Amino acid sequence: MSSKFDSNAATLSRFVMSQTNDHDLVILLNALAISCKLITSAVQRAGVAKLYGLAGEVNSTGDDQKKLDVLSNDMMINALIHSGVCSVLVSEENEEPIIVPPAYSGKFCVAFDPLDGSSNIDCNVSVGTIFSVYERKPGSHGSVDDLLRSGAHCICAGYVVYSSAVELVFTFRGGDVHGFCLDSTIGEFVHTREKMMFPADGGKRIYSCNEGNAVHWDDPIQEAVEHFKTAEQPYTARYVGSMVADIHRTILYGGIYLYPADAKAKKGKLRLLYEGIPMAMIIEQAGGIASTGMFEGKIQRVLDLTPNEIHAKCPIIMGGKRDVQVVYDQYAKHG
Ligand code: AHG
Ligand code: MN
Ligand code: MN
Ligand code: MN
Repeated sequence: MSSKFDSNAATLSRFVMSQTNDHDLVILLNALAISCKLITSAVQRAGVAKLYGLAGEVNSTGDDQKKLDVLSNDMMINALIHSGVCSVLVSEENEEPIIVPPAYSGKFCVAFDPLDGSSNIDCNVSVGTIFSVYERKPGSHGSVDDLLRSGAHCICAGYVVYSSAVELVFTFRGGDVHGFCLDSTIGEFVHTREKMMFPADGGKRIYSCNEGNAVHWDDPIQEAVEHFKTAEQPYTARYVGSMVADIHRTILYGGIYLYPADAKAKKGKLRLLYEGIPMAMIIEQAGGIASTGMFEGKIQRVLDLTPNEIHAKCPIIMGGKRDVQVVYDQYAKHG
């Protein structure tokens, strides 16, 4: 019988339980989902609750913190500490790593960007949350060294986009990428996208970057973007300015997202631990490429980078193979 009501809802918790026997991991993902529901509530009520505007502080990578950055960060920290399964937390909004008190300490280490795209908060445009999860090294009681490891050690990663709908996209290392929509009538993330993959034919030709930085880019990046504009089948430009929203569209529709290193920002702008690595894992496991472009003399996989500090930055060239190849071709042409 068809009905508007699902008597067998495929929730995120059910999905996670079907994928792992590790109960602590189930608890962790439940805590992450709860924090994203709390952030959903804050984002959706931001105008009513007078949560627009600046908090008055600057974070460690030089961003002016918004009230909603700080509130979202508190929501994640409290949920993760009280989950009892984390030992170290790293957040964009905290200069130092948070070492969980022994009474609550567990085996996981989580890096997160509590609110991505905070320049879009006050005009009610899509924002997001990004997270990556690691396990403590054998013998460690939880220190920053457990997180200062390459993307190969990341055991799962996800993002949430707060937009016309709220959607959580998640993958375990080496697994498929899955999407879950928040059904506000039951307060649960429900499995809506099975095995997300870049469109097999490359999909839409879309390039996504802050072209206001073009004057600082190196020649290959400038010429790749010029190619996108002048190719026989020209590309369309789309740039939300929230990485989560731009990457979500790139996976679903196809295209390329660029935040390259440039003469002004030699390591790019985005942060490796809580923006680069989780998004790279999702992009690669959805069949795309996650590259640094030219960075410190060579083109590298983002997942091969090891952060030398928790707020380390990395350049990002991510997208479908057809479109990232355009950038590679320009690097090859320029030697
Ligand atoms: P955050 O709001 O978490 O600090 O991240 C901002 C990032 C990312 O979301 C976005 O893609 C990029 O900064 C936008 O930067 P520009 O404003 O320089 O284009
Ligand atoms: Mn910020
Ligand atoms: Mn961000
Ligand atoms: Mn942020």
